[in-house]
Amino acid sequence: MDSLLITGGNRLKGSITVNGSKNAALPIMAACILTEGETVLKGVPQLEDIRHLSALLEKLGVNVSRDEKGNLRLKVEDEMNCHAEYELVRKMRASVCVMGPLLAKRRRAQVSLPGGCNIGDRPVDLHIQGFQCLGAESDLVGGDIYLKAKKLKGAEMFLGGPFGSTVLGTANVLMAATLAEGVTVIESAACEPEVIDLANYLNACGARIIGQGTPRITVEGVKELHGCEHTVIPDRIEAGTFMMAAAITNGDVLINNCRLDHLMAVVDRLRAIGVNVERKGDAVQVSSSRRLEPVSVTTQPYPGFPTDLQAQIMALLALADGNSIITEKIFPDRFVHVAELNRMGARLRKEGPTVIVEGVKNLVGAPVMASDLRASAALVVAALVAKGKTKISRVYHIDRGYERIEQRLAAIGAEIQRVPE
Ligand code: EPZ
Repeated sequence: MDSLLITGGNRLKGSITVNGSKNAALPIMAACILTEGETVLKGVPQLEDIRHLSALLEKLGVNVSRDEKGNLRLKVEDEMNCHAEYELVRKMRASVCVMGPLLAKRRRAQVSLPGGCNIGDRPVDLHIQGFQCLGAESDLVGGDIYLKAKKLKGAEMFLGGPFGSTVLGTANVLMAATLAEGVTVIESAACEPEVIDLANYLNACGARIIGQGTPRITVEGVKELHGCEHTVIPDRIEAGTFMMAAAITNGDVLINNCRLDHLMAVVDRLRAIGVNVERKGDAVQVSSSRRLEPVSVTTQPYPGFPTDLQAQIMALLALADGNSIITEKIFPDRFVHVAELNRMGARLRKEGPTVIVEGVKNLVGAPVMASDLRASAALVVAALVAKGKTKISRVYHIDRGYERIEQRLAAIGAEIQRVPE
Protein backbone atom coordinates (compact mmCIF):
# COMPACT_ATOMS: atom_id res chain seq x y z
CA MET A 1 0.00 0.00 0.00
CA ASP A 2 1.43 3.37 -1.01
CA SER A 3 1.73 6.51 1.11
CA LEU A 4 1.89 10.16 0.18
CA LEU A 5 4.72 12.20 1.61
CA ILE A 6 3.97 15.92 1.64
CA THR A 7 6.13 18.79 2.84
CA GLY A 8 3.88 21.75 3.54
CA GLY A 9 4.43 25.42 2.94
CA ASN A 10 4.58 25.90 -0.84
CA ARG A 11 2.09 28.30 -2.43
CA LEU A 12 0.24 26.55 -5.24
CA LYS A 13 0.60 28.51 -8.48
CA GLY A 14 -0.23 27.75 -12.11
CA SER A 15 -3.04 25.83 -13.77
CA ILE A 16 -4.62 22.45 -13.16
CA THR A 17 -7.31 20.64 -15.16
CA VAL A 18 -10.33 18.94 -13.65
CA ASN A 19 -11.14 15.42 -14.90
CA GLY A 20 -14.51 14.02 -15.85
CA SER A 21 -16.80 13.26 -12.93
CA LYS A 22 -16.45 9.88 -11.25
CA ASN A 23 -19.92 10.04 -9.76
CA ALA A 24 -21.48 10.94 -13.12
CA ALA A 25 -19.52 8.27 -14.99
CA LEU A 26 -20.43 5.36 -12.68
CA PRO A 27 -24.24 5.34 -13.17
CA ILE A 28 -23.85 6.11 -16.87
CA MET A 29 -21.58 3.08 -17.24
CA ALA A 30 -24.22 0.95 -15.48
CA ALA A 31 -26.92 2.42 -17.74
CA CYS A 32 -25.18 0.82 -20.73
CA ILE A 33 -26.81 -2.46 -19.61
CA LEU A 34 -30.08 -0.96 -20.88
CA THR A 35 -28.85 -0.29 -24.39
CA GLU A 36 -28.43 -2.08 -27.71
CA GLY A 37 -25.32 -1.02 -29.60
CA GLU A 38 -22.17 0.67 -28.41
CA THR A 39 -21.72 3.57 -26.00
CA VAL A 40 -18.62 5.74 -26.28
CA LEU A 41 -17.93 7.75 -23.11
CA LYS A 42 -15.48 10.62 -23.23
CA GLY A 43 -13.78 12.06 -20.18
CA VAL A 44 -14.05 9.01 -17.91
CA PRO A 45 -11.21 9.30 -15.37
CA GLN A 46 -8.72 6.47 -14.76
CA LEU A 47 -9.70 5.62 -11.21
CA GLU A 48 -9.98 2.56 -9.00
CA ASP A 49 -13.77 2.96 -8.72
CA ILE A 50 -14.10 3.02 -12.51
CA ARG A 51 -11.96 -0.15 -12.75
CA HIS A 52 -14.11 -1.88 -10.11
CA LEU A 53 -17.33 -1.09 -11.95
CA SER A 54 -15.76 -2.11 -15.27
CA ALA A 55 -14.86 -5.49 -13.72
CA LEU A 56 -18.43 -5.93 -12.47
CA LEU A 57 -19.92 -4.96 -15.86
CA GLU A 58 -17.61 -7.45 -17.59
CA LYS A 59 -19.02 -10.17 -15.31
CA LEU A 60 -22.51 -9.03 -16.30
CA GLY A 61 -21.71 -9.54 -19.97
CA VAL A 62 -20.68 -6.00 -20.96
CA ASN A 63 -17.54 -5.60 -23.02
CA VAL A 64 -15.63 -2.60 -21.56
CA SER A 65 -12.48 -1.23 -23.17
CA ARG A 66 -10.45 1.98 -23.52
CA ASP A 67 -9.72 3.01 -27.10
CA GLU A 68 -6.54 4.76 -28.25
CA LYS A 69 -8.08 8.19 -27.51
CA GLY A 70 -8.79 7.15 -23.91
CA ASN A 71 -12.56 6.92 -24.47
CA LEU A 72 -14.42 4.17 -22.64
CA ARG A 73 -16.35 1.87 -25.00
CA LEU A 74 -19.13 -0.32 -23.62
CA LYS A 75 -21.28 -2.86 -25.37
CA VAL A 76 -23.54 -5.58 -24.02
CA GLU A 77 -22.56 -8.97 -25.42
CA ASP A 78 -24.30 -11.45 -23.14
CA GLU A 79 -27.43 -10.92 -21.05
CA MET A 80 -27.38 -14.18 -19.06
CA ASN A 81 -25.71 -13.16 -15.80
CA CYS A 82 -27.74 -10.89 -13.48
CA HIS A 83 -25.75 -11.44 -10.28
CA ALA A 84 -23.56 -8.71 -8.78
CA GLU A 85 -21.53 -10.63 -6.20
CA TYR A 86 -20.50 -9.49 -2.74
CA GLU A 87 -16.79 -9.56 -3.66
CA LEU A 88 -17.30 -6.75 -6.19
CA VAL A 89 -20.09 -4.79 -4.46
CA ARG A 90 -18.09 -4.81 -1.21
CA LYS A 91 -15.23 -2.97 -2.94
CA MET A 92 -17.46 -0.22 -4.22
CA ARG A 93 -20.91 0.67 -3.02
CA ALA A 94 -21.87 2.43 -6.26
CA SER A 95 -22.12 -1.09 -7.76
CA VAL A 96 -25.75 -1.00 -6.56
CA CYS A 97 -26.56 1.15 -9.59
CA VAL A 98 -26.65 -1.98 -11.76
CA MET A 99 -29.92 -2.96 -10.02
CA GLY A 100 -32.22 -0.67 -12.02
CA PRO A 101 -30.73 -1.48 -15.45
CA LEU A 102 -30.66 -5.26 -14.80
CA LEU A 103 -34.26 -5.25 -13.59
CA ALA A 104 -35.52 -3.18 -16.53
CA LYS A 105 -33.58 -4.96 -19.29
CA ARG A 106 -33.20 -8.52 -18.03
CA ARG A 107 -36.27 -8.59 -15.76
CA ARG A 108 -34.27 -9.87 -12.79
CA ALA A 109 -31.34 -8.86 -10.63
CA GLN A 110 -29.46 -10.41 -7.73
CA VAL A 111 -27.28 -7.78 -6.11
CA SER A 112 -25.35 -8.19 -2.90
CA LEU A 113 -26.48 -5.68 -0.30
CA PRO A 114 -23.62 -3.28 0.39
CA GLY A 115 -22.67 -2.97 4.05
CA GLY A 116 -22.03 0.32 5.82
CA CYS A 117 -18.81 2.16 5.10
CA ASN A 118 -16.60 4.72 6.77
CA ILE A 119 -19.04 7.51 6.11
CA GLY A 120 -21.88 5.73 7.94
CA ASP A 121 -24.95 3.63 7.17
CA ARG A 122 -25.73 3.36 3.49
CA PRO A 123 -29.27 1.95 3.16
CA VAL A 124 -30.88 1.21 -0.23
CA ASP A 125 -34.50 1.09 0.99
CA LEU A 126 -35.52 4.01 -1.25
CA HIS A 127 -34.07 2.30 -4.35
CA ILE A 128 -36.14 -0.81 -3.55
CA GLN A 129 -39.24 1.26 -2.79
CA GLY A 130 -38.95 2.86 -6.23
CA PHE A 131 -38.60 -0.50 -7.99
CA GLN A 132 -41.62 -1.82 -6.10
CA CYS A 133 -43.66 1.19 -7.27
CA LEU A 134 -42.75 0.15 -10.83
CA GLY A 135 -44.16 -3.32 -10.12
CA ALA A 136 -41.04 -5.27 -9.14
CA GLU A 137 -40.97 -7.92 -6.42
CA SER A 138 -38.02 -7.92 -4.05
CA ASP A 139 -36.62 -10.31 -1.50
CA LEU A 140 -33.52 -10.35 0.72
CA VAL A 141 -31.83 -13.76 1.01
CA GLY A 142 -28.31 -14.43 2.27
CA GLY A 143 -27.31 -10.78 2.04
CA ASP A 144 -28.44 -10.52 -1.59
CA ILE A 145 -31.37 -8.49 -2.88
CA TYR A 146 -33.40 -10.40 -5.45
CA LEU A 147 -35.53 -8.32 -7.80
CA LYS A 148 -37.82 -9.56 -10.52
CA ALA A 149 -40.68 -8.29 -12.68
CA LYS A 150 -42.49 -9.74 -15.69
CA LYS A 151 -42.84 -6.18 -16.84
CA LEU A 152 -42.33 -2.77 -15.26
CA LYS A 153 -45.17 -0.27 -15.33
CA GLY A 154 -44.79 3.49 -15.01
CA ALA A 155 -45.98 4.96 -11.67
CA GLU A 156 -45.99 8.12 -9.58
CA MET A 157 -43.74 7.91 -6.55
CA PHE A 158 -42.16 9.94 -3.76
CA LEU A 159 -38.46 9.13 -3.34
CA GLY A 160 -37.48 11.36 -0.40
CA GLY A 161 -36.08 9.88 2.81
CA PRO A 162 -35.09 11.11 6.26
CA PHE A 163 -32.03 12.86 4.79
CA GLY A 164 -33.73 14.26 1.72
CA SER A 165 -33.35 12.96 -1.81
CA THR A 166 -31.09 10.07 -2.84
CA VAL A 167 -28.64 10.45 -5.72
CA LEU A 168 -28.06 6.81 -6.68
CA GLY A 169 -31.63 5.91 -5.71
CA THR A 170 -32.94 8.49 -8.19
CA ALA A 171 -30.46 7.24 -10.79
CA ASN A 172 -31.48 3.61 -10.27
CA VAL A 173 -35.23 4.23 -10.52
CA LEU A 174 -34.77 6.64 -13.43
CA MET A 175 -32.83 4.01 -15.36
CA ALA A 176 -35.46 1.35 -14.64
CA ALA A 177 -38.30 3.69 -15.69
CA THR A 178 -36.82 4.34 -19.15
CA LEU A 179 -37.95 0.89 -20.33
CA ALA A 180 -41.15 0.67 -18.23
CA GLU A 181 -44.55 0.75 -19.90
CA GLY A 182 -46.16 4.18 -19.53
CA VAL A 183 -45.22 7.30 -17.59
CA THR A 184 -43.23 7.48 -14.34
CA VAL A 185 -43.09 10.56 -12.14
CA ILE A 186 -40.37 10.70 -9.47
CA GLU A 187 -41.12 13.32 -6.80
CA SER A 188 -38.33 14.48 -4.47
CA ALA A 189 -35.82 13.35 -7.08
CA ALA A 190 -32.18 14.28 -6.51
CA CYS A 191 -31.24 17.45 -8.43
CA GLU A 192 -27.47 16.78 -8.53
CA PRO A 193 -25.66 17.55 -11.82
CA GLU A 194 -24.65 13.87 -11.98
CA VAL A 195 -28.35 12.91 -12.24
CA ILE A 196 -28.83 15.48 -15.02
CA ASP A 197 -25.83 14.02 -16.86
CA LEU A 198 -27.30 10.52 -16.58
CA ALA A 199 -30.68 11.71 -17.90
CA ASN A 200 -28.97 13.54 -20.77
CA TYR A 201 -27.04 10.38 -21.64
CA LEU A 202 -30.22 8.28 -21.54
CA ASN A 203 -32.08 10.81 -23.72
CA ALA A 204 -29.23 10.65 -26.23
CA CYS A 205 -29.83 6.86 -26.27
CA GLY A 206 -33.53 7.40 -27.10
CA ALA A 207 -35.12 7.76 -23.64
CA ARG A 208 -37.84 10.34 -22.98
CA ILE A 209 -36.98 12.10 -19.73
CA ILE A 210 -37.90 15.64 -18.69
CA GLY A 211 -37.44 17.57 -15.45
CA GLN A 212 -33.90 16.36 -14.66
CA GLY A 213 -32.26 18.88 -12.33
CA THR A 214 -35.60 19.56 -10.60
CA PRO A 215 -37.29 17.57 -7.78
CA ARG A 216 -39.85 16.18 -10.26
CA ILE A 217 -38.54 13.95 -13.04
CA THR A 218 -40.97 12.54 -15.61
CA VAL A 219 -40.09 9.53 -17.73
CA GLU A 220 -42.11 8.24 -20.64
CA GLY A 221 -41.09 4.63 -21.15
CA VAL A 222 -39.74 3.51 -24.54
CA LYS A 223 -39.35 0.02 -26.08
CA GLU A 224 -35.58 0.11 -26.44
CA LEU A 225 -32.49 2.27 -26.11
CA HIS A 226 -29.57 2.48 -28.50
CA GLY A 227 -25.93 3.43 -27.88
CA CYS A 228 -24.50 6.94 -28.23
CA GLU A 229 -21.42 9.10 -27.73
CA HIS A 230 -21.42 11.16 -24.54
CA THR A 231 -18.96 13.43 -22.71
CA VAL A 232 -19.07 13.16 -18.93
CA ILE A 233 -19.40 16.46 -17.00
CA PRO A 234 -16.37 17.83 -15.11
CA ASP A 235 -15.96 16.55 -11.55
CA ARG A 236 -17.30 19.31 -9.29
CA ILE A 237 -15.88 17.63 -6.18
CA GLU A 238 -12.39 17.41 -7.65
CA ALA A 239 -12.69 21.09 -8.69
CA GLY A 240 -13.84 22.05 -5.19
CA THR A 241 -10.93 20.12 -3.65
CA PHE A 242 -8.47 22.05 -5.84
CA MET A 243 -10.16 25.31 -4.76
CA MET A 244 -9.57 24.44 -1.09
CA ALA A 245 -5.95 23.49 -1.88
CA ALA A 246 -5.36 26.82 -3.63
CA ALA A 247 -7.00 28.75 -0.79
CA ILE A 248 -5.20 27.03 2.10
CA THR A 249 -1.77 27.64 0.55
CA ASN A 250 -2.52 31.31 -0.18
CA GLY A 251 -2.05 30.25 -3.76
CA ASP A 252 -3.15 31.52 -7.15
CA VAL A 253 -4.47 28.70 -9.32
CA LEU A 254 -6.38 28.59 -12.59
CA ILE A 255 -8.69 25.56 -12.48
CA ASN A 256 -9.55 24.44 -16.04
CA ASN A 257 -12.63 22.46 -17.10
CA CYS A 258 -14.56 23.73 -14.08
CA ARG A 259 -18.36 24.26 -14.08
CA LEU A 260 -18.78 27.16 -11.65
CA ASP A 261 -22.58 26.84 -11.93
CA HIS A 262 -22.25 23.40 -10.26
CA LEU A 263 -20.34 24.91 -7.35
CA MET A 264 -22.28 28.01 -6.33
CA ALA A 265 -22.78 26.96 -2.67
CA VAL A 266 -19.05 26.26 -2.42
CA VAL A 267 -18.10 29.56 -4.04
CA ASP A 268 -20.48 31.35 -1.66
CA ARG A 269 -18.69 29.86 1.38
CA LEU A 270 -15.22 30.45 -0.08
CA ARG A 271 -16.00 34.10 -0.75
CA ALA A 272 -17.35 34.48 2.81
CA ILE A 273 -14.04 33.04 4.03
CA GLY A 274 -12.22 35.73 2.01
CA VAL A 275 -11.02 33.64 -0.92
CA ASN A 276 -11.11 35.21 -4.40
CA VAL A 277 -12.98 33.11 -6.94
CA GLU A 278 -13.30 34.46 -10.47
CA ARG A 279 -14.80 32.86 -13.56
CA LYS A 280 -12.48 32.86 -16.62
CA GLY A 281 -14.54 31.27 -19.41
CA ASP A 282 -14.51 27.50 -18.77
CA ALA A 283 -11.91 27.99 -16.04
CA VAL A 284 -11.95 29.48 -12.56
CA GLN A 285 -9.17 31.49 -10.92
CA VAL A 286 -8.86 30.91 -7.18
CA SER A 287 -6.51 32.97 -5.05
CA SER A 288 -6.08 34.02 -1.47
CA SER A 289 -3.60 36.29 0.23
CA ARG A 290 -4.77 36.80 3.77
CA ARG A 291 -5.93 35.07 6.97
CA LEU A 292 -9.21 33.28 6.51
CA GLU A 293 -12.53 34.35 8.07
CA PRO A 294 -14.49 31.76 10.08
CA VAL A 295 -17.90 30.74 8.66
CA SER A 296 -20.76 28.28 9.21
CA VAL A 297 -21.20 25.46 6.70
CA THR A 298 -24.14 23.06 6.48
CA THR A 299 -24.11 20.23 3.97
CA GLN A 300 -27.31 19.67 2.02
CA PRO A 301 -28.50 17.98 -1.15
CA TYR A 302 -27.72 19.94 -4.34
CA PRO A 303 -27.71 22.91 -4.81
CA GLY A 304 -26.61 23.11 -1.15
CA PHE A 305 -23.05 22.64 0.05
CA PRO A 306 -21.95 19.08 -0.93
CA THR A 307 -21.16 16.53 1.76
CA ASP A 308 -18.30 15.40 -0.51
CA LEU A 309 -16.48 18.70 0.25
CA GLN A 310 -17.25 18.86 3.97
CA ALA A 311 -13.93 17.34 5.04
CA GLN A 312 -11.88 19.55 2.72
CA ILE A 313 -13.50 22.81 3.90
CA MET A 314 -12.94 21.67 7.48
CA ALA A 315 -9.20 21.49 6.77
CA LEU A 316 -9.37 25.03 5.37
CA LEU A 317 -11.37 26.41 8.31
CA ALA A 318 -8.96 24.81 10.77
CA LEU A 319 -6.73 27.80 9.94
CA ALA A 320 -9.42 30.52 10.09
CA ASP A 321 -9.23 33.51 12.38
CA GLY A 322 -11.93 32.36 14.85
CA ASN A 323 -14.52 29.64 15.37
CA SER A 324 -16.44 27.96 12.53
CA ILE A 325 -19.34 25.55 12.72
CA ILE A 326 -19.73 22.67 10.26
CA THR A 327 -22.94 20.61 10.27
CA GLU A 328 -23.34 17.40 8.27
CA LYS A 329 -26.95 16.87 7.18
CA ILE A 330 -26.46 14.05 4.65
CA PHE A 331 -24.21 11.54 6.44
CA PRO A 332 -24.25 12.58 10.15
CA ASP A 333 -21.33 10.24 10.97
CA ARG A 334 -19.04 11.35 8.15
CA PHE A 335 -16.25 12.64 10.40
CA VAL A 336 -13.35 10.14 10.27
CA HIS A 337 -11.08 13.04 9.30
CA VAL A 338 -11.65 14.91 12.58
CA ALA A 339 -9.27 12.85 14.71
CA GLU A 340 -6.62 12.80 11.94
CA LEU A 341 -6.77 16.60 11.45
CA ASN A 342 -6.46 17.00 15.23
CA ARG A 343 -3.23 14.97 15.04
CA MET A 344 -1.96 17.75 12.78
CA GLY A 345 -2.72 20.44 15.35
CA ALA A 346 -6.26 21.37 14.34
CA ARG A 347 -8.73 22.09 17.16
CA LEU A 348 -11.91 20.31 16.19
CA ARG A 349 -14.62 19.22 18.57
CA LYS A 350 -17.40 16.94 17.37
CA GLU A 351 -20.82 17.34 18.92
CA GLY A 352 -23.34 15.04 17.22
CA PRO A 353 -23.56 15.88 13.51
CA THR A 354 -21.69 19.18 14.10
CA VAL A 355 -18.02 20.03 14.43
CA ILE A 356 -16.85 23.20 16.14
CA VAL A 357 -13.67 24.34 14.45
CA GLU A 358 -11.49 26.57 16.58
CA GLY A 359 -9.09 28.22 14.16
CA VAL A 360 -5.36 27.80 14.88
CA LYS A 361 -2.35 29.70 13.48
CA ASN A 362 -0.54 26.63 12.11
CA LEU A 363 -0.99 22.98 11.31
CA VAL A 364 1.94 20.65 11.88
CA GLY A 365 2.93 17.64 9.75
CA ALA A 366 2.31 14.18 11.26
CA PRO A 367 1.80 10.58 10.20
CA VAL A 368 -1.91 10.24 9.45
CA MET A 369 -4.17 7.65 7.96
CA ALA A 370 -6.61 7.89 5.09
CA SER A 371 -9.80 5.97 5.77
CA ASP A 372 -12.32 7.39 3.32
CA LEU A 373 -11.96 9.09 -0.05
CA ARG A 374 -12.90 12.67 0.89
CA ALA A 375 -11.33 12.42 4.35
CA SER A 376 -8.06 11.58 2.56
CA ALA A 377 -8.48 14.58 0.30
CA ALA A 378 -8.87 16.76 3.40
CA LEU A 379 -5.60 15.38 4.80
CA VAL A 380 -3.83 16.25 1.55
CA VAL A 381 -5.26 19.80 1.68
CA ALA A 382 -4.11 20.20 5.30
CA ALA A 383 -0.68 18.71 4.61
CA LEU A 384 -0.02 21.20 1.80
CA VAL A 385 0.25 23.96 4.41
CA ALA A 386 1.30 22.05 7.56
CA LYS A 387 4.77 22.78 8.89
CA GLY A 388 7.16 19.93 8.11
CA LYS A 389 6.34 16.54 6.67
CA THR A 390 3.04 14.67 6.63
CA LYS A 391 2.88 11.00 5.72
CA ILE A 392 -0.58 9.90 4.62
CA SER A 393 -0.87 6.13 4.57
CA ARG A 394 -3.50 3.94 2.84
CA VAL A 395 -3.51 6.14 -0.23
CA TYR A 396 -5.71 3.68 -2.13
CA HIS A 397 -8.66 5.59 -0.71
CA ILE A 398 -7.61 8.73 -2.56
CA ASP A 399 -6.87 6.75 -5.74
CA ARG A 400 -10.54 5.80 -5.78
CA GLY A 401 -11.50 9.37 -6.65
CA TYR A 402 -8.49 11.46 -7.71
CA GLU A 403 -6.31 10.44 -10.65
CA ARG A 404 -2.53 10.80 -10.12
CA ILE A 405 -3.14 13.41 -7.42
CA GLU A 406 0.56 13.73 -6.52
CA GLN A 407 1.67 14.45 -10.10
CA ARG A 408 -1.03 17.03 -10.69
CA LEU A 409 -0.45 18.89 -7.42
CA ALA A 410 3.34 18.72 -7.87
CA ALA A 411 2.91 20.41 -11.27
CA ILE A 412 1.48 23.50 -9.52
CA GLY A 413 4.18 23.68 -6.88
CA ALA A 414 3.32 21.18 -4.13
CA GLU A 415 6.13 19.15 -2.58
CA ILE A 416 4.43 15.78 -2.73
CA GLN A 417 5.53 12.28 -3.64
CA ARG A 418 4.15 8.77 -3.58
CA VAL A 419 6.20 6.25 -1.66
CA PRO A 420 5.61 2.50 -1.66
CA GLU A 421 5.24 1.06 1.83
C1 EPZ B 1 -23.84 9.61 -3.78
O1 EPZ B 1 -24.00 8.50 -2.91
C2 EPZ B 1 -22.37 9.76 -4.04
N1 EPZ B 1 -21.84 8.53 -4.63
C3 EPZ B 1 -21.62 10.07 -2.74
O2 EPZ B 1 -20.27 10.34 -3.05
C4 EPZ B 1 -22.23 11.33 -2.12
O3 EPZ B 1 -21.62 11.57 -0.87
C5 EPZ B 1 -23.74 11.15 -1.94
O4 EPZ B 1 -24.36 10.81 -3.21
C6 EPZ B 1 -24.44 12.39 -1.44
O5 EPZ B 1 -24.22 13.46 -2.31
C7 EPZ B 1 -21.93 8.33 -5.94
O6 EPZ B 1 -22.49 9.12 -6.67
C8 EPZ B 1 -21.28 7.14 -6.49
P1 EPZ B 1 -27.52 9.21 -1.30
P2 EPZ B 1 -25.45 7.90 -2.66
O7 EPZ B 1 -28.37 8.04 -1.64
O8 EPZ B 1 -26.28 8.11 -3.85
C9 EPZ B 1 -29.89 8.25 2.72
C10 EPZ B 1 -17.92 10.14 -2.82
O9 EPZ B 1 -17.14 10.46 -1.89
N2 EPZ B 1 -30.50 7.13 1.97
O10 EPZ B 1 -27.81 10.49 -2.03
O11 EPZ B 1 -25.29 6.53 -2.17
C11 EPZ B 1 -28.39 8.07 2.92
O12 EPZ B 1 -28.12 7.25 4.04
C12 EPZ B 1 -19.26 9.47 -2.54
O13 EPZ B 1 -17.66 10.31 -4.02
C13 EPZ B 1 -31.56 6.44 2.54
O14 EPZ B 1 -32.00 6.72 3.66
O15 EPZ B 1 -25.98 8.82 -1.49
C14 EPZ B 1 -27.96 9.50 3.10
O16 EPZ B 1 -28.23 9.91 4.42
C15 EPZ B 1 -19.39 9.02 -1.12
N3 EPZ B 1 -32.10 5.40 1.83
C16 EPZ B 1 -28.86 10.27 2.14
O17 EPZ B 1 -29.99 9.41 1.92
C17 EPZ B 1 -31.65 5.06 0.59
O18 EPZ B 1 -32.21 4.12 -0.02
C18 EPZ B 1 -28.24 10.61 0.79
O19 EPZ B 1 -27.58 9.46 0.25
C19 EPZ B 1 -30.61 5.79 0.01
C20 EPZ B 1 -30.04 6.82 0.73
